[in-house]
Amino acid sequence: MKFAGSDQYVATADLMLAVNAAATLQRPLLVKGEPGTGKTMLAEEVAAALGMPLLQWHIKSTTKAQQGLYEYDAVSRLRDSQLSGIEGAEKVKNIENYIVKGVLWQAFESDRPVALLIDEIDKADIEFPNDLLREIDRMEFYVYETRQLIKAKHRPLVFITSNNEKELPDAFLRRCFFHYIKFPDPATMQAIVDVHFPGLKKELLAAALKTFFEVRNLPGLKKKPSTSELLDWLKLLLAEDIPVSALQSQDEKISIPPLVGALLKNEQDLTLFEKLLQMQRHNR
Ligand SMILES: Nc1ncnc2c1ncn2[C@@H]1O[C@H](COP(=O)(O)OP(=O)(O)O)[C@@H](O)[C@H]1O
Ligand SMILES: [Mg+2]
Repeated sequence: MKFAGSDQYVATADLMLAVNAAATLQRPLLVKGEPGTGKTMLAEEVAAALGMPLLQWHIKSTTKAQQGLYEYDAVSRLRDSQLSGIEGAEKVKNIENYIVKGVLWQAFESDRPVALLIDEIDKADIEFPNDLLREIDRMEFYVYETRQLIKAKHRPLVFITSNNEKELPDAFLRRCFFHYIKFPDPATMQAIVDVHFPGLKKELLAAALKTFFEVRNLPGLKKKPSTSELLDWLKLLLAEDIPVSALQSQDEKISIPPLVGALLKNEQDLTLFEKLLQMQRHNR
């Protein structure tokens, strides 16, 4: 089956091509891009479109590769051994009762093909991607405690996302199909907004998009607002019933947009914006 976008998610042609290429090659799709460009949602949408369950593994700075395979819960075993009677003793004897399956294991043992999302892999330490190479390549791993080899019944459709905070190792990259989600151009952005706010008035949409891209293109911003910020901002504009006129400046000059806190998230960027406006006034 082929992925062709959905009515919730706007997929550009190159993105669809990448998804289908990764599926054909049976390699993980590594999706990079600014935060808020729809990387996580892509996995959810592809899984839904292909009718596959999606197993999600959200990576933190402390996440270890082993946790995706399994963990041995020694603490519970010790506690059970101290508290339990004869029945409990049986449980304690069997180490299998204290092996907690990770997301990869769950994906491997599933009777039907599943999609697997390894979200924000760049959050983890530098060893993390390398530690998963073999599992991703061979689709198997060994459980030392129980001397079991766990093999995938079906190769899962793997999505790996990265916000580009760290470089990923070459050996890891070699095994992935890579796609960079470019920041949406105005036309694509308009399509994305349409999906979320189908009835939005044309004038408001045009004015809001114009303001948004003006703010985004300010030179020297520390954190450029992205798709999700635009959507939040539009939601607020609608909730507060902000008129189109508040977004359009009379003299084609930029002004501070209403509810700018939805777009700019730190004081340096706001200061930069205000300075620019001052300069504009000065130049008049
Ligand atoms: N192509 C798109 N089509 C529809 N909505 C999108 C798209 N890209 C981003 N969004 C919106 O932006 C939000 C953030 O997307 P998300 O997948 O969390 O971004 P990322 O994982 O890249 O940080 C989504 O919840 C969705 O509402
Ligand atoms: Mg995400």
